[in-house]
Amino acid sequence: MNSALEQFVNVPGTQLWFKDVGQGVPLLLVHGFPLDHTMWSAQIDALPSRCRLIAPDLRGFGRSPLGADDDVLTMERLADDLAMLLDALEIGGPVVLCGLSMGGYVALQFVRQYASRLHGLILCDTRAAADSPEAAAARLAMADRVLREGNAPLVEAMLPRMLSGGTARNHPRVLEALRRVMMGTSPRTVAAAQRGMARRPDMTAALARISCPTLVVVGAEDASSPPAEMRAMADAIAGARYVEIPEAGHLAPLENPAAVNAAILGFLDGIASRSNTTQPREE
Ligand code: MLT
Repeated sequence: MNSALEQFVNVPGTQLWFKDVGQGVPLLLVHGFPLDHTMWSAQIDALPSRCRLIAPDLRGFGRSPLGADDDVLTMERLADDLAMLLDALEIGGPVVLCGLSMGGYVALQFVRQYASRLHGLILCDTRAAADSPEAAAARLAMADRVLREGNAPLVEAMLPRMLSGGTARNHPRVLEALRRVMMGTSPRTVAAAQRGMARRPDMTAALARISCPTLVVVGAEDASSPPAEMRAMADAIAGARYVEIPEAGHLAPLENPAAVNAAILGFLDGIASRSNTTQPREE
């Protein structure tokens, strides 16, 4: 049985909480907004015999406090935090990075800054494009509103778009757990992340420069990062594998974990066999 390590590491201005469980190739799981590592529970439960899962709460989310100066959480800053987490864990070799939605925005910044640390990339229910000016303005307005009124307006606007119709209807406990996590994130963190996402760069042109093996995963009913957009993202990355997850919306790993876990394992096996053929093991 794998026992999980749960602890904090220091990053500039604050600390990051993370869970570390399992053995094998490190798989760094980066959650979406305004969530925390618990959205990966089904992967953390099922995959530790096949890989080493490292699931942080990004700064300000879950158990990781927001830094005193963190009024804008840029995707670049969050990517730097991940690199520091790997340093603290003394993981010098390459990892597989898996990010969902905002976690995917962070993953794309990690690719930009730390490509040599990557063995593989998994982009789940995310987007490469920047916000339109209207979407960015709406985020900034929501940031101000949440600071005045709390998270309820954000949660009411986001929640109906997060799950597939089937998950929302048939799994009310999933919906309620999600609402609790979203409501539990501090309004300061929500505002800072909204400001950071509003100014994230457009990464569409950079997709063609991604050179590590890449898996693109999307819920078939994702209304926020729709399958057509994610398929185009996969088409822009040389050799990327594209998997559409049935009976899932924007949170595919949580809504249909069996299908997502199978896609992840198939991808990890593909990377392993590629490494075995390109790098003969020393006896
Ligand atoms: C997420 O799930 O992380 C959000 O949908 C990201 C966003 O607001 O763009």
